Amino acid sequence: MSELVLGIESSCDETAAAVVAGGREIRSSVVESQVLEHARYGGVVPEIAGRSHLRVVMPLIDRALAKADVTLEDIGCIAVTSRPGLIGSLLVGLSAAKALAFARDLPLVCVNHIEAHAYAATMENDGDSYPSLALVVSGGHTALYVAHSPFELELLSRTLDDAAGEAFDKVAYLLGLPYPGGPSISKLAASGNARAYDFPRCRAKHGPPAFSFSGLKTAVLYHLRGQDALAPTPAPDAIPDRADVAASFEEAVADSLVGPTVAVAVERGLARVLVVGGVACNRRLREVMRAKAAERGIEAIFPSPAYCTDNAAMIAGLGWHLWKAGRLAGFDADASPQ
Ligand code: KG4
Ligand code: ZN
Repeated sequence: MSELVLGIESSCDETAAAVVAGGREIRSSVVESQVLEHARYGGVVPEIAGRSHLRVVMPLIDRALAKADVTLEDIGCIAVTSRPGLIGSLLVGLSAAKALAFARDLPLVCVNHIEAHAYAATMENDGDSYPSLALVVSGGHTALYVAHSPFELELLSRTLDDAAGEAFDKVAYLLGLPYPGGPSISKLAASGNARAYDFPRCRAKHGPPAFSFSGLKTAVLYHLRGQDALAPTPAPDAIPDRADVAASFEEAVADSLVGPTVAVAVERGLARVLVVGGVACNRRLREVMRAKAAERGIEAIFPSPAYCTDNAAMIAGLGWHLWKAGRLAGFDADASPQ
């Protein structure tokens, strides 16, 4: 029987398809980003996202099959993201997956996007992966889980307000940097002084960590307005210390994520931390997490950048485990934003 899974992802602003063998061996992974379509709005517009997925999903699946040098005849199972995400976007991928599974009489599995992000770190890692602490940091999510297995994630806590990626995107907007904000802040921060400004951090405490980024975002806003809440936000070219603000903000985000995460790993006796999602691409977060975790004898594991951001290899990879565990979906499977 074929061990090949075709994965389909369309939860937000990336359409993706991939072919993965045995849950780990990535034969192809193609991603079509909608970033340019949403850039002028400073964030994802759901209407545009849904239509764009509809336009590209079938040609993209063809590309993934061609790149893996296989046809649908060679596929053993179809895996698709069914939650959480933008409902109109999820339905496009789910409908495509159902149609293919029905036409080819193939098993269908529905994958949770968050669990798939966490799985991405273990897919590329040969060592023992479970149990681990999983920090999921993306544009829509900032949450900490204990990963007991590829599809058993126990939620410990999530952000009280903004997600870390959302904070990057909002602060980038204030600084006049292009969307998505994470990569552009990171690039500017490289020439700035991370110690120039002491922006607020969420500190490590006992008990479930409470991530929060809206205070940090407001602190940056007030800094730019000269501490005058009623003053207008200056035009980007009138901000002389943009690189220092970017670097100090990035440092505050890294500290806010690393401190509580390492504290929970120590408290729970977990030897590994999986750091996943788009923000896990961040160079400074990787440095601080690796260093602070190592001080406590903990290994920090990151997917390679292409598998931190949204992709379908993680969907096909986790889908293989669901398939083998017999967790199949019916043709009445629904999508959910939660
Ligand atoms: O996981 P992802 O591709 O999509 C969601 O599921 O949300 O994450 C996208 C988020 C965006 O907010 C983007 O600004 C952020 O990841 N991001 C980064 C970096 N690359 C992407 N944030 C910080 N540093 C980066 N290098
Ligand atoms: Zn994601």
